[in-house]
Amino acid sequence: MAVLPDDLSSALDDELARHPLPRLTQSVDRLSTRYRQGDAATSPILTSDVDVAAYAGYRMPATYAAVHAVLAEAASRAPGFEPRTQIDVGGGTGAAVWAAAAVWPSLAKCTVLEQVAGAIGLGKRLAAGASLPAVRDAQWRRGLVDPAAPAPDADLVTLSYVLGELPDATRADVVRWLAGSAGTVALIEPGTPAGYERIRAARAQLIELGRHVVAPCPHDAACPIVPGEDWCHFAARLPRSGLHRRLKAATLGFEDEKFAYVVASRSEPERPAARIIRHPKKHKGWVALDLCTSSDGLTPGVAVSKKQGAQYRAARDAEWGDGW
Ligand SMILES: C[S@@+](CC[C@H](N)C(=O)[O-])C[C@H]1O[C@@H](n2cnc3c(N)ncnc32)[C@H](O)[C@@H]1O
Repeated sequence: MAVLPDDLSSALDDELARHPLPRLTQSVDRLSTRYRQGDAATSPILTSDVDVAAYAGYRMPATYAAVHAVLAEAASRAPGFEPRTQIDVGGGTGAAVWAAAAVWPSLAKCTVLEQVAGAIGLGKRLAAGASLPAVRDAQWRRGLVDPAAPAPDADLVTLSYVLGELPDATRADVVRWLAGSAGTVALIEPGTPAGYERIRAARAQLIELGRHVVAPCPHDAACPIVPGEDWCHFAARLPRSGLHRRLKAATLGFEDEKFAYVVASRSEPERPAARIIRHPKKHKGWVALDLCTSSDGLTPGVAVSKKQGAQYRAARDAEWGDGW
């Protein structure tokens, strides 16, 4: 389970307590409908302080969980990578800064670029009591993503749940702008077919621009998935607080946030031979793994049997999203 840090969770509760629950749930309903539509935004989607609080209450725990899972995987692939600086583009209330600081204690200077003043205000208030200095001292810059500006100058550049809000015509320009950074670039989108297709296009563009995939792909070759037939995505499980449950009118004590992602860097990382791209199917005496491999592309239903000893034990412990 990807649990929010205590300091973030209690600051979030205090912020949500400033708004009447019916107003928050109204905003949650409007925002969920809007995000489900998935169209690019011609104006900011977060239009009031209640919207911003509602976003932080019902989406930030999930985007934090997804970004944390992505960055933790990237960190495990590149153990020598110790970023000191981060720029989070379209950072909203700062989920990716909290996640990056939790993954890399080396981070010293984080900057959030965001267009909505209310999101910056709330993000700053949440960060003010953070125990991690990189979060507490983060710089918040109000502005629009500008692909004509100099490329982001940071060791780590994050763009989480933003590509889908950008107009189709500027998305490729923004990816080119991000790729101009010397740092590692992490792009995260909802784990829907549309989110995957945006990541697929961005990944192809990053590779074309000389980047190497750190995760999730075990290779820099073309993605072997046929769009429209399937989509590459992963999941992070997170607990739902009582208030979170009330905001979403949900009963389960947890949810699975599905996400698609790519992390790319200028140097070639050490990659696993394969990535597990579905829940392993665990049978008596054998496990079936759906893999994306560096040698043969998609390889569904690879059987690992008890006779394979250590491999079998590893397969029993393996999870969707793990390297193999
Ligand atoms: C879905 S929210 C994601 C927020 C945050 N990155 C997260 O993962 O929780 C998208 C954010 O991107 C911001 N955004 C969208 N287009 C932008 C642009 N052109 N320039 C700056 N910010 C933008 C929105 O205001 C919003 O805060």
